[in-house]
Amino acid sequence: MSNQSTRTVLITGGSSGIGFEMAKQMIAEESTVIICGRSQEKLDDAKKKIPQLTAIQCDITNKESRREMYEKIFDQFNDLNMLINNAGFANRFSLTKVDDLETMITEEWQTNYLAPVMLAKELLPVLIQNKGTIVNITSGLAYVPLSIKSNYCATKAALHSMTQSMRVQLAKHDIKVVEIFFPAVDTPFQRGHSPEISIQADEAAAIALKGLNSGKEEIRVKKAALLYAISRLMPNKAVSIINKTVPDNVEDLV
Ligand SMILES: NC(=O)c1ccc[n+]([C@@H]2O[C@H](COP(=O)([O-])OP(=O)(O)OC[C@H]3O[C@@H](n4cnc5c(N)ncnc54)[C@H](OP(=O)(O)O)[C@@H]3O)[C@@H](O)[C@H]2O)c1
Repeated sequence: MSNQSTRTVLITGGSSGIGFEMAKQMIAEESTVIICGRSQEKLDDAKKKIPQLTAIQCDITNKESRREMYEKIFDQFNDLNMLINNAGFANRFSLTKVDDLETMITEEWQTNYLAPVMLAKELLPVLIQNKGTIVNITSGLAYVPLSIKSNYCATKAALHSMTQSMRVQLAKHDIKVVEIFFPAVDTPFQRGHSPEISIQADEAAAIALKGLNSGKEEIRVKKAALLYAISRLMPNKAVSIINKTVPDNVEDLV
């Protein structure tokens, strides 16, 4: 099990999809799990399904909301030793059709890049004290962009780069920095457009946890490993292969 034997973990966006499945499986491993999300209804639902969870309402893009969450966490869980930066979303848009591009891309940067980096920075003192682990969730699309989710891919590529820097910077503080690259997973994230190759969230979470428990720093889940390999050998071919999955009439579908 990574660099600590007992986990007290905060999973952002643990009320749905992959984060919820990771929370469920970590509770089964007897970790203490705190989840957060914006919707109280989704948090209540998660708590109903897994009563051992601690669920805190928080919009991770809002500084004050993050501060309130930390207060609640430190009240009860001084032993916090893992942050899983999981909350994220993807907009689909075509540059020729999108109206309010600035709002769209700003929201994605705030949620997928800025918030994970700020959470890591703000929780650093307690994570250093507890010799903890920061886990950043990215995607196979951090290596190869899917054009219809262009800005999403850019945010994940940026988080990938930042994760590598964090790993180097924080090693001397005994902080482990892990990145999990997911492939397409059938969750609400896909907004009803799950590709045929999607895997289920419980399988994605189980592979991610196995990687975490074996101490890996980079965990490429299923087809994310294949995409990585192709992108290293034939970078341009990888872009054309992945974008062949986008239908020709996509501009009418977004
Ligand atoms: N599903 C895929 O195909 C796929 C593939 C590769 C990587 N990923 C990555 O895996 C991660 C989890 O995705 P998922 O598929 O499990 O998505 P999901 O089912 O849509 O869940 C997203 C979670 O994030 C929370 N969230 C979103 N914005 C938030 C905010 N501002 N503050 C706090 N919580 C917020 C949501 O709760 P609220 O809405 O209530 O806030 C929800 O709990 C994401 O980082 C995603 O990029 C997913």
